[in-house]
Amino acid sequence: MKLAMVGAGYVGLVTAACFAEMGNEVTCVDADKAKVEALEQGIIPIYEPGLEDYVKRNTQENRLFFTTDLAAAVQKSLVVFIAVGTPQDKDGSADLSMVLDVAKKIGRCINGYKVIVEKSTVPVGTATLVRQAINAELKARGEEIEFDVVSNPEFLKEGTALDDFMKPDRIVVGCDDVRVGELMKELYAPFVRTNHPVIIMDVVSAELTKYAANAFLATKISFINELAIICSKTGANIGMVRQGIGSDRRIGHLFLFPGLGYGGSCFPKDMQALIHTARSRGYTPRILEAAEAVNQEQRQLFSDRIAAYFGNDLSGKVLAVWGLSFKPQTDDIREAPALTIIEKLTEAGARIQAHDPEAMTATKNYLGNHKAVSFAKTSYEAVQGADALIICTEWTKFREPDFERMRSLMKSPVIFDGRNLYSTEKLAKLGFEYFYVGQKQ
Ligand SMILES: NC(=O)c1ccc[n+]([C@@H]2O[C@H](COP(=O)([O-])OP(=O)(O)OC[C@H]3O[C@@H](n4cnc5c(N)ncnc54)[C@H](O)[C@@H]3O)[C@@H](O)[C@H]2O)c1
Repeated sequence: MKLAMVGAGYVGLVTAACFAEMGNEVTCVDADKAKVEALEQGIIPIYEPGLEDYVKRNTQENRLFFTTDLAAAVQKSLVVFIAVGTPQDKDGSADLSMVLDVAKKIGRCINGYKVIVEKSTVPVGTATLVRQAINAELKARGEEIEFDVVSNPEFLKEGTALDDFMKPDRIVVGCDDVRVGELMKELYAPFVRTNHPVIIMDVVSAELTKYAANAFLATKISFINELAIICSKTGANIGMVRQGIGSDRRIGHLFLFPGLGYGGSCFPKDMQALIHTARSRGYTPRILEAAEAVNQEQRQLFSDRIAAYFGNDLSGKVLAVWGLSFKPQTDDIREAPALTIIEKLTEAGARIQAHDPEAMTATKNYLGNHKAVSFAKTSYEAVQGADALIICTEWTKFREPDFERMRSLMKSPVIFDGRNLYSTEKLAKLGFEYFYVGQKQ
């Protein structure tokens, strides 16, 4: 099938590459000229394991193309995906300006029947707005051209995006026409050969399903973090409690790790957007608001714990930070807990020596010329002369470090672990003072 993918970011690029891998001809459009030029040369602007191979192979085999020319891409394609950003607006709602801008542009160039697919995460009612935007342009052109608008939310996770897309648990398609549903099923058939379902529903339900999935997972994270606080006040061991409840199949172990809370480009903004959707319809979503509040507090509690250890005076202290990305296997630092923690600690006078395997460039760009933050090439260089180490992201290489070497490099062997990676007994034996999330106060 001939497809256009508008937006070559984390979702658009992965989706385009995976559809091309299955034999479709995909034209990926992005407004960012530099990004398109880089992609044409096989340079991938983001870190996502395996993506470079997919992009290079499919570009070389003439199934994947990159352009800034939206009209050309739309005109030659039957299915047009919109995969641009939907950041948080000032009032918490999803900012739809990029989605609607693309819809308008589609309306200006559409030349025959098309299926327009919302791939971006968009609130209930957006399909109607997309339809109206396209129709307004068609009216201005004095033309009547048929098209359908479909909701097809994306559930991939950064870091394992290719695997998630190639072997999805389910595909959700919201559409009003049976024939469009069949076309989408055909498009996704190669991805669901193991009988994972393509669930066809109405558009509004599909739009809400994406928010429901993210809100559930975010709430699960806040739930275990709230339990960690209760553990810290009762002496119960959060690791054991986690195992005890996670083994129940109704609960499960996934998304049940105590830590610094959720971040990233999706959960925080999608929670806000869903809260906004509910509130704008006269309902106060108490569970969602509580999950958000617990999440915000988690970063504060952790920074407070570090400051308290140093008698609330961090001036002159050197703190190593391991992990900057919002989670491992990505260079994405959007809403990353590490950034909030670095900000709080530097405001209190600390100097930071940070290390991350992939996200240092993005963090340097984000922080600009921050005098109190330096970047270390290796995790060991970061702990050199440090008064304490703070772990913000659970990259695999941080799981079994050479503790002897660390102790010899650090000014004092103190670890604040925001991801509960280590055994307290082991670290005590090695002579470290070890603080983790949910520890008895
Ligand atoms: N990142 C994730 O893990 C993830 C997962 C599921 C869903 N989503 C959703 O998918 C959407 C995209 O997220 P992302 O992380 O890929 O965003 P992103 O910011 O990485 O990429 C968006 C891309 O769209 C381009 N763009 C913006 N306006 C454009 C226009 N008018 N024409 C052409 N290109 C344009 C930008 O230049 C950018 O390259 C969001 O709604 C997000 O919530 C993201």
